[in-house]
Amino acid sequence: MRVIAIAVVSENGVIGDGKDQPFKFGEDWARFKATTMGHPIIVGRHTHEAIGGYLPGRTTIVVSRDPEQIELSDDPDAPSFAVGSVELALELAESLDDVCFVCGGGQVYENAWEYLTELDITQVHETAEGSVHFPEIDPEDWLLLHREPRGQFDFTRLFPITRTERLTLVPVGPDDLDDWARLYSASDLPEVPIERHRVGLEANVEHWLNDGLGYWLAKESLHDRPVGVGGVRRSKENPDGTWSLYYRFEPDSRNQGYAVEIAKAGIAALKVLDPDSELRAVLRPDNAAACAVAEKVGLLPTGETSDERGPLQVWTAVVATL
Ligand SMILES: NC(=O)c1ccc[n+]([C@@H]2O[C@H](COP(=O)([O-])OP(=O)(O)OC[C@H]3O[C@@H](n4cnc5c(N)ncnc54)[C@H](OP(=O)(O)O)[C@@H]3O)[C@@H](O)[C@H]2O)c1
Repeated sequence: MRVIAIAVVSENGVIGDGKDQPFKFGEDWARFKATTMGHPIIVGRHTHEAIGGYLPGRTTIVVSRDPEQIELSDDPDAPSFAVGSVELALELAESLDDVCFVCGGGQVYENAWEYLTELDITQVHETAEGSVHFPEIDPEDWLLLHREPRGQFDFTRLFPITRTERLTLVPVGPDDLDDWARLYSASDLPEVPIERHRVGLEANVEHWLNDGLGYWLAKESLHDRPVGVGGVRRSKENPDGTWSLYYRFEPDSRNQGYAVEIAKAGIAALKVLDPDSELRAVLRPDNAAACAVAEKVGLLPTGETSDERGPLQVWTAVVATL
């Protein structure tokens, strides 16, 4: 399940004074409503009291150490639950949907931090007074992939930076065009115009924004050097709900086990986001190295297809079994 923290955060990190939040913008509230509509939302008791009721069109899960004290709604358009921990709230949300929103306040953001898969932050260009803060966002751990300026504030989306044994995996974003183009233009591939690379990169950003996961730029952690791209993402060519495994490392960085590292990281991310889905890799049967990687991570050859360059083998598995 995608677990998305959504918050309005001032320049100094303040989100409230314990009772109310310092900023209220009509456009932001409309976006909050549209974004969370239809999904479960998790709130702490203080925030629930600050809202003063249950938001229609969403299932509200209130977290309290004494959940019995919470008065629940009898409005069928605003179902509600009260539970005794953030973990129970997430478990309940997962039984209802494949996306949930953590809506604060400070304590609940803090206690849900380790489970978050995305941040959806309205960054306000002003400081505020108040004792409740959003947790510190470490740029070593989160990449700001999307920013939509709106005058007094920006809508922003951040995604986790993943570390494997030797690689730092950073969601590929608009600033990575040169690396993206270089890694796709390795000497063994025909040259592609930069504009087509830009389109490919923008499509990858859309994957992150829409599905919560897309390809990474793989950097050797030791030298902070980009050596490849890849990971898993939903594929238009695949039947609904399936994910594709793909990677490409520059020639000097092949045969070092990096492909297995990025494939395992992709599978680990999918186990959190979408464990019941299918993962597939479409490989040339004579690409022994790629077939060996597929086998190593637990995929099985389950079908065949072809393209203009010849036959292809389809390797698949249900993510939870990997
Ligand atoms: N700017 C924004 O986007 C935004 C969003 C939301 C809220 N806010 C602001 O944030 C402030 C409220 O934040 P807050 O930190 O004071 O309170 P909060 O997180 O809303 O609620 C805290 C309460 O939630 C329960 N709780 C928290 N973690 C728990 C856990 N792990 N297990 C069980 N129960 C848990 C406890 O309830 P019990 O005491 O009942 O045990 C705790 O007292 C308000 O000013 C509000 O306006 C701002």
